[in-house]
Amino acid sequence: MKEKLQEIKEEALRQIEASDRLEKLNEIKVAFLGKKGDLTNLMKSLKEAAPEERPKLGQLINDTRTAIEEILSEKKEAFEKAMREAKLSAETIDVTLPAKRSPMGHRHPNTIVLEEVERIFSGMGYEVVEGPEVEYDYYNFEALNIPANHPAKDEQDTFYITGDILLRTQTSSTQVHEMEKGKLPIRMIAPGRVYRSDEVDATHSPCFHQIEGLVIDKNITFADLKGTLAEFAKQLFGEDTKVKFRPHHFPFTEPSAEVDVSCFKCKGKGCRFCKGSGWIEILGCGMVHPRVLEMSGIDPEKYTGFAFGVGLERITLLKYEIDDMRLLYENDIRFLKQF
Ligand code: DAH
Repeated sequence: MKEKLQEIKEEALRQIEASDRLEKLNEIKVAFLGKKGDLTNLMKSLKEAAPEERPKLGQLINDTRTAIEEILSEKKEAFEKAMREAKLSAETIDVTLPAKRSPMGHRHPNTIVLEEVERIFSGMGYEVVEGPEVEYDYYNFEALNIPANHPAKDEQDTFYITGDILLRTQTSSTQVHEMEKGKLPIRMIAPGRVYRSDEVDATHSPCFHQIEGLVIDKNITFADLKGTLAEFAKQLFGEDTKVKFRPHHFPFTEPSAEVDVSCFKCKGKGCRFCKGSGWIEILGCGMVHPRVLEMSGIDPEKYTGFAFGVGLERITLLKYEIDDMRLLYENDIRFLKQF
């Protein structure tokens, strides 16, 4: 019996030593210690031994079992440790590797130009304000001296929501909101979206952007308007840019003008860009109409002011020599990346 035990123990140890996987250890455990395992069978055969020998032999079998169990669990731990280490080293992160480059977003050319315009006017002490895009007819037309049935209403194909609520066709409506606040003087620009029911083509879109300007104070004259816009044009298009004021009509200003800048491409000589004229139209402006001041509760005898309205897309297209407005709305990254 003793020899048999010794043999079993040696055989178990040999197999444990030779095993290369965790599963193998389980098989060994079953083969030697399991219900039908060698040691269990030996235990069962104890009843054949002489009664006085049994306790001693039983003890020996148990000692052998314990010894095998111990070695099995040592080996098991060694396997598990090796597996842990293999996993850890496989998952090691080399923090010195350069990072993957993820594609960066890009500011839209409209945004770049708007920020430039805001920078220029902030530098002259203007506040940047915003007004609502859904607007009452009153703010978009009436209070700007465009009464019902005025032909100027026809020029701006309006999206109406109800009879007197609409999508603003011009940022000029923001002027009225600012004047109604009753805080003078006013020196503001108001950028934002405007809407007109136009067909989409290279120069039209049902939604585009304007930047409105308004200054109201005592003793504001047309000379202030000219000086301000001349400075604006210089900062935006270059130091040698000239401005030209052409008489025009807007219901909310009197007198009114359209402003051209000398072509920054050919410096006024005449080119494809300025259609040979040397000048490019960039905005509308004028002295705020006394009726407009009055309607918003400002005394035109004490205060005067000027206003102007710039089409943002128009400036962007000019500045970057883009010949189709639709490119600005498609958000094609290949296009946007160029600016
Ligand atoms: N609101 C005008 C338009 O949409 C632009 C404009 C012209 C605004 C003259 C003004 C201005 O403030 O004085 O065509």
